[in-house]
Amino acid sequence: MKNKVCLVTGATAGIGEVTAFKLAQMGATVVGVGRNPAKCAATESRIRAETENPNVEFLVADLSSQAQIRALDASFRQKYHRLDVLVNNAGAFNFAREVSVDGIEMTFALNHLGYFLLTHLLLDVLKASAPARIVSVSSSAHYNGKLDLDDLEMQKNFQGWPAYANSKLANVLFTYELARRLEGTGVTATVLHPGWVATEFAYNNLRGWLGLFRPFYRLFQKMTAITPEQGADTIVYLATSPEVEGVTGKFFVERQEKRSLAVSYDEGVAKKLWEISERMVR
Ligand SMILES: NC(=O)c1ccc[n+]([C@@H]2O[C@H](COP(=O)([O-])OP(=O)(O)OC[C@H]3O[C@@H](n4cnc5c(N)ncnc54)[C@H](OP(=O)(O)O)[C@@H]3O)[C@@H](O)[C@H]2O)c1
Repeated sequence: MKNKVCLVTGATAGIGEVTAFKLAQMGATVVGVGRNPAKCAATESRIRAETENPNVEFLVADLSSQAQIRALDASFRQKYHRLDVLVNNAGAFNFAREVSVDGIEMTFALNHLGYFLLTHLLLDVLKASAPARIVSVSSSAHYNGKLDLDDLEMQKNFQGWPAYANSKLANVLFTYELARRLEGTGVTATVLHPGWVATEFAYNNLRGWLGLFRPFYRLFQKMTAITPEQGADTIVYLATSPEVEGVTGKFFVERQEKRSLAVSYDEGVAKKLWEISERMVR
C-alpha cells in the first residue's frame, strides 16, 4: 500500500480506528477523520508511534454537517493530490429523534448523507487516481430496512432501530447505484457488514436512567460480539486485497460476497434515493 492515500472516516474508535491502523501498518498514507479534536490528535499520535509510519494525519469534521464535510474536502485537497481508497465508516445509532445542523434527521444525515456527500466531493480525485476503491460500511441491519422514499427522515413515526436499519439499507442502495454510475472509470464501490462488533457503537445512547444498562451492555458485547480487529477485517480486505481488484457493486460479509435485501437491487428505488439525496445536499 506504499504511495497509496487512504481516507477513513470514523477513525477515532471502533472498526474505523483499527482500519486506519492496519492501513498505516501496510505502509499507506492514512488520513483519518473524526469529530473530536482531542481524540483525533491522540489517535494520530498512537498510530504513528505504533506503526512507525509518519504518514498518518487526522482531520476533524462532524460528518452530520454538510458545511463540515465540504470543509473536510477542502482541507484534504490542500495537502493531497490523490486518493486511492475512501472508507465511509462513520455511523451511529440514535435512540431518540434528533436533527442535524442542516435540519435533517440525524441518523439519515450522518449514516447516509455523510457517505453520499463526501463521496461525491472526492469523486474527481478518486477518478484521477484510478484504480481506486470506495468501501462503505453498512450492516446486516439493512435486511430490516423499509425505506419510505416519501418520508426518509421518518417525520411521521420515528423509531431508533428502524431509522438505523433504513440508513444502512441506503448505504447498500447508494453503493450499487454508485457502482453503476462509475462503470468504466476504474473506481469500484463495495459495501459490507462487519459483524456484531464490541465497539462504542450505540453505547452513548445509554444516558440518564438507561445508563444503568451500561455494564450489562459491555458484558453482553464481551459474551457475544467479535473484536474490532475481527470487525475491521472485511473492510481492510476490500480496501487492499488484489483478490477484489475490479470487483464492484457487491455486498460482503466475512470476505464473502453475499446477497443483500431484495429491494436493494431495485434500480428504480436506488435512482430515486440518489436524486432525493442530491437535493438534500444541494
Ligand atoms: N459495532 C457493530 O456491531 C456494527 C455492526 C454493523 C455495522 N456497524 C457499522 O460500523 C460503523 C462503525 O461503527 P463502530 O462499531 O466502529 O462504532 P464506534 O465505535 O461508535 O465508532 C464510530 C466512529 O464514528 C465516529 N463518528 C460518530 N459520529 C460522527 C460524526 N457525527 N462525525 C464524524 N465522526 C463521527 C466516532 O467518533 P467518536 O470517536 O468521536 O465517537 C467513531 O470514530 C458504523 O457505520 C456502524 O453502523 C457496526
